[in-house]
Amino acid sequence: MTVLFGGSFDPPHIAHTEMAEAVANLNETEKLVIIPAFSAPLKNGAKESYKHRFNMCELAFGFIKKAEISNIEEIINLKNKTEKSYTVDTIKTYIAQNNLKEKPYFLIGADSAEHLNEWKNAKELCLICNFLVFKRNGKINTSVLDKLNANYKILDFLPKNYSSTKIRENIAFNDVSEKVKQYIMANSLYNIDEKYKEILQKNMGKRRYNHSLNVAEEAVRLAKKYNADENLAYTAGLLHDITKEIPQKTQLKFCSEFGILMNDIEKNSFKLWHAITGAYYVKYILAIENEDIFDAIRYHTTAKPNMPLLSKIIYLADYTSKERDYDGVEDMRKYVDISLEKAMLEALKFTVEDVSAKGLPVHPDTLNALKEAESK
Ligand SMILES: [Fe+2]
Ligand SMILES: [Fe+2]
Repeated sequence: MTVLFGGSFDPPHIAHTEMAEAVANLNETEKLVIIPAFSAPLKNGAKESYKHRFNMCELAFGFIKKAEISNIEEIINLKNKTEKSYTVDTIKTYIAQNNLKEKPYFLIGADSAEHLNEWKNAKELCLICNFLVFKRNGKINTSVLDKLNANYKILDFLPKNYSSTKIRENIAFNDVSEKVKQYIMANSLYNIDEKYKEILQKNMGKRRYNHSLNVAEEAVRLAKKYNADENLAYTAGLLHDITKEIPQKTQLKFCSEFGILMNDIEKNSFKLWHAITGAYYVKYILAIENEDIFDAIRYHTTAKPNMPLLSKIIYLADYTSKERDYDGVEDMRKYVDISLEKAMLEALKFTVEDVSAKGLPVHPDTLNALKEAESK
């Protein structure tokens, strides 16, 4: 059988993927066609664009062998110049285009099955396709389906337990797959930056929050200039100081929870802690599993030799964000516009002199980074 699975997929959740896998695992299933809705007429439209939702479907379902993602609704809408798509039209078009000899199955959840009579041309819909209906918490009311004389099969679906996400901040997107989450972040969908800002404001005072916004802005400017990913630069800049105002005791608790071992210089310098705990906070609590962001936050105070591009950008943006007014900031702003290498060299010299002047030991990562910068 051919199974059609339509939805707004705004975004596609793990539960959607699990449903699709369950259907693909049925022997009778020859093909599973995922159909992102051009817009979802019974809801008030989708929050994200068709293109993004389509791309997320590829990430969420692409690995399922029998599955294909269909752009049939886009084609119908482009042809008819309408903004809404109805299942009945989509299925009719699909049958005609693919010359289907057998009625396809349309996959729906229990909620939809109980309101099928509200769909456009529901009776006709029941004539042209059969239904695969997923129970909700083991329950289903089939009275609407029966009234419409629909032909249907009921499937059991037991969603897996997602409690492993309990330590994460409630910023949503714990119920989408890792790949979809990376896509959401990389494209700043669903106002995710606003959610990060809310968390920042809880963690820090106004001054540091303002600094964080400015570092993000400067990081984007540098990313544009030096061909780095602007979205990643914004996120890393925004979050680089996320644990800076979190009390020592709590930061030590993070260290033991996340298995962080600090060396002696780090242990004795509270200023360095937030770069380490911040990187882990972003990875484990905000669930941003991006190595470039992790690295950029991890080394934004000490630097290190062989820094990736994004790490250099965050390190320097922290020096040249617009509220900075230390002696020498104007020179530093000139250097970042000349070259990253020149700016890194000057910023590292500045750090070593500054730390030494305070009588503090300089972190070996910083000394090695300076050595490397001087040899270039
Ligand atoms: Fe910092
Ligand atoms: Fe900072």
